[in-house]
Amino acid sequence: MNAILSAAQDWAIGKDNHLLFHLKEDMRRFRVLTTGGTVIMGRRTLESLPGEKPLPKRRNIIVTHDRQFTREGAEVAHSVDAALNMVDTTADDVWVMGGGSIYASMLSRCKKVFLTRVDATVEGADTFFPNLDKLSCWKIVSQSEPIVEDGVSYRFFEYRNRNL
Ligand SMILES: NC(=O)c1ccc[n+]([C@@H]2O[C@H](COP(=O)([O-])OP(=O)(O)OC[C@H]3O[C@@H](n4cnc5c(N)ncnc54)[C@H](OP(=O)(O)O)[C@@H]3O)[C@@H](O)[C@H]2O)c1
Repeated sequence: MNAILSAAQDWAIGKDNHLLFHLKEDMRRFRVLTTGGTVIMGRRTLESLPGEKPLPKRRNIIVTHDRQFTREGAEVAHSVDAALNMVDTTADDVWVMGGGSIYASMLSRCKKVFLTRVDATVEGADTFFPNLDKLSCWKIVSQSEPIVEDGVSYRFFEYRNRNL
């Protein structure tokens, strides 16, 4: 199981239940990596997606405490452990895709983090990812050259969990 996200320079990932950046090449990469696999997300992240709909061509697992919650095209887990029990956590095609609370509770179970690190900050961001550079169990195993889109520069990083 891996995590996938985009973060600003200060590790911010969201504001007012929206993404901070909409970068075409990053979105394309997200689609290529996750299509055909399983994505796990919190209820708020689902609600941030277009039409509040699960992602097509992927198995979607939504984490919520709400026992009444159903959504066509998605499976529901009522706890992090329940979500983990629904997948093979050793598989490379299971993706934790946010948001902040779900990353925080599942990060230690992820083997890799696929991070898009944007060389910018956004004022008023309200959701953050842990700073992996300050956590000794995470090491960078690859990083791309910078990509520049609409004047914004970003790189793809792959971090590996030394504990898994
Ligand atoms: N930059 C990126 O790559 C990226 C990716 C994804 C999301 N985001 C951003 O992250 C923000 C959303 O993050 P968030 O932390 O506010 O919300 P979230 O993690 O997407 O969802 C939070 C919800 O998940 C459910 N939940 C969380 N832990 C649970 C548990 N242990 N058991 C049962 N249910 C649980 C709860 O739903 P109920 O309230 O229904 O119980 C909770 O309110 C948005 O701004 C979004 O755009 C950014």
